[in-house]
Amino acid sequence: MVISMAASEAALQVLSGAVPSQTYTNLRSTSLLSYKYGFKSQKDDAFGCISQKGLRIFRIYAGSHVIRKTDRIFIGGQNNQSKSLRCNCTGAESVWEASREDGSKGVVNGVAKDLDNQSLEATQHFKYEKEDPLSNGELASDTAVGKTFSGAGANSLEDEAWNLLRASMVFYCGNPVGTIAANDPSDSNTLNYDQVFIRDFIPSGIAFLLKGEYEIVRNFILHTLQLQSWEKTMDCHSPGQGLMPASFKVRVVPLDGDDSATEEVLDPDFGEAAIGRVAPVDSGLWWIILLRAYGKCWRPFSPERIDVQTGIKMILKLCLADGFDMFPTLLVTDGSCMIDRRMGIHGHPLEIQALFYSALLCAREMLAPEDASADLVRALNNRLVALSIHIREYYWIDMKKLNEIYRYKTEEYSFDAVNKFNIYPDQIPPWLVEWMPNKGGYLIGNLQPAHMDFRFFSLGNLWAIVCSLATADQSHAILDLIEAKWSDLVADMPLKICYPALEGQEWRIITGSDPKNTPWSYHNGGSWPTLIWQLTVACIKMNRPEIAEKAIRAAEKRLARDKWPEYYDTKGARFIGKQAHLFQTWSIAGYLVAKLLIANPSAANILINIEDAELLSVFSWALNANPRGKRSRKGPKQSFII
Ligand code: GLC
Repeated sequence: MVISMAASEAALQVLSGAVPSQTYTNLRSTSLLSYKYGFKSQKDDAFGCISQKGLRIFRIYAGSHVIRKTDRIFIGGQNNQSKSLRCNCTGAESVWEASREDGSKGVVNGVAKDLDNQSLEATQHFKYEKEDPLSNGELASDTAVGKTFSGAGANSLEDEAWNLLRASMVFYCGNPVGTIAANDPSDSNTLNYDQVFIRDFIPSGIAFLLKGEYEIVRNFILHTLQLQSWEKTMDCHSPGQGLMPASFKVRVVPLDGDDSATEEVLDPDFGEAAIGRVAPVDSGLWWIILLRAYGKCWRPFSPERIDVQTGIKMILKLCLADGFDMFPTLLVTDGSCMIDRRMGIHGHPLEIQALFYSALLCAREMLAPEDASADLVRALNNRLVALSIHIREYYWIDMKKLNEIYRYKTEEYSFDAVNKFNIYPDQIPPWLVEWMPNKGGYLIGNLQPAHMDFRFFSLGNLWAIVCSLATADQSHAILDLIEAKWSDLVADMPLKICYPALEGQEWRIITGSDPKNTPWSYHNGGSWPTLIWQLTVACIKMNRPEIAEKAIRAAEKRLARDKWPEYYDTKGARFIGKQAHLFQTWSIAGYLVAKLLIANPSAANILINIEDAELLSVFSWALNANPRGKRSRKGPKQSFII
């Protein structure tokens, strides 16, 4: 690792005190159509369609915890009635009009168009078209990405995957709004796998974008925006303002007071019903990442829309809120991301930090410059710098760093401590001493006082490459490690979610003896085919696509034959997972995204964040500012404003 601890300390000092309070105006708080239970689109009214003996009537409903709109869930390929139902309801665009704060425009179809036209005129705020060297001007505001792939599908495996992906589409009011998590007709125990998960939809959404099919992504973005938690309530079970749900379902429910009619409602789950009751921290971060990808491909609405802007700001505000934290990393509970049950990742897990960093960068590209958000942007910039320094320095391990930790002194009480987090060298697990290759390294899973979680977590490491949270050297080293440890991390099926598995007493204590997370199963060292798309983006970014291609070839041998399982078990990924769902949508979509990107690597640009020059300059300033490792108690005279 190149920078010294003192340097990062110096940079953090510079930033301390520089983070202003977030005082931007909450644009929706006075919404004419704000809603009673904390969901911004509902208070008293919402639009809906009623199915009444074949008739559809457009009307206003009383509000509740759900978004109510129309009357039918169509699960592609499964619902025979789908074609016979005709809904005249509005699409996502005008649904949104129902809930936006500009009451003067009322709820009129077409108003959104005005808004978009205005927004489109202001596209100078979008930096990426010009500034992103990877795009070569071919992305954004046109359909180049989609056109590139209009011929995709020659391969029968890909054809099968596309058919399955389309069959998993969920319709609301006749419009596609997402894909269900798993679509196995022979499975009677669906649990919540019949819902649209935000994180699961990301590869689906990317696949559709790459194919030039934008509508489903647009609807997904706008409908989930409506579901975003709006008002914080006193009830401790209510989600915090700005939280995006983990998943949502389209329910068909009888219409109040009318037995012969039904209505469709969008019913979000913020973790209140999820196993373990965990709030999904990753949902809002993924939402921002998808929004930026969408904006790079196509713009029937501009991310500068006031509603979209407010959605972004609410997520940022939630993430950037002050707490008791000493670290720039985001403090979360166990299970608040893809690993959504107890696995000992509470604290500052890498996956969340990488998504957080990525979302901050994406949001910065999309936030419209205005006085009201100046403080927010400043806080965002400060956090970006502090976060990258913290992760690059303290999460990174390779042989050299491991040896340093092995020789750490402990109990250092001083500002100049080398072993800041008081890590006891005995924590270095015996497996790691053998496992760490001479060439290569990775970002550890978590860092807390006196605790380093040395497990390798794939998604966090891959996304740190994609968003440039890891330096270029570190990114290459991570890929070197994946190559060197191929039989452990890829084996028969890419990719291990983490390595190694918790076993014995450790498994009992850390997972609470979770029978689903037994060693080398599910989240505990299981192999997840969906991760192949993140691997592919990371490899393309580092110009090493051959690594991803090799992984894709391994996956192709089994995925379709095994009916696209959710995950695989055993050390070598030899078995279909014990409780794995089949026809798991993100396994299918992940494969498609990987194939599409390998066929056109420049399209990965919609997901990649290149190293930020401004951040780099702050970073090198930090290096030079305090070369002797002394911590000035005074700190800088001025805050560092990028
Ligand atoms: C499991 C996974 C989670 C995923 C969900 C739906 O709970 O742990 O990451 O979103 O299934 O597929």
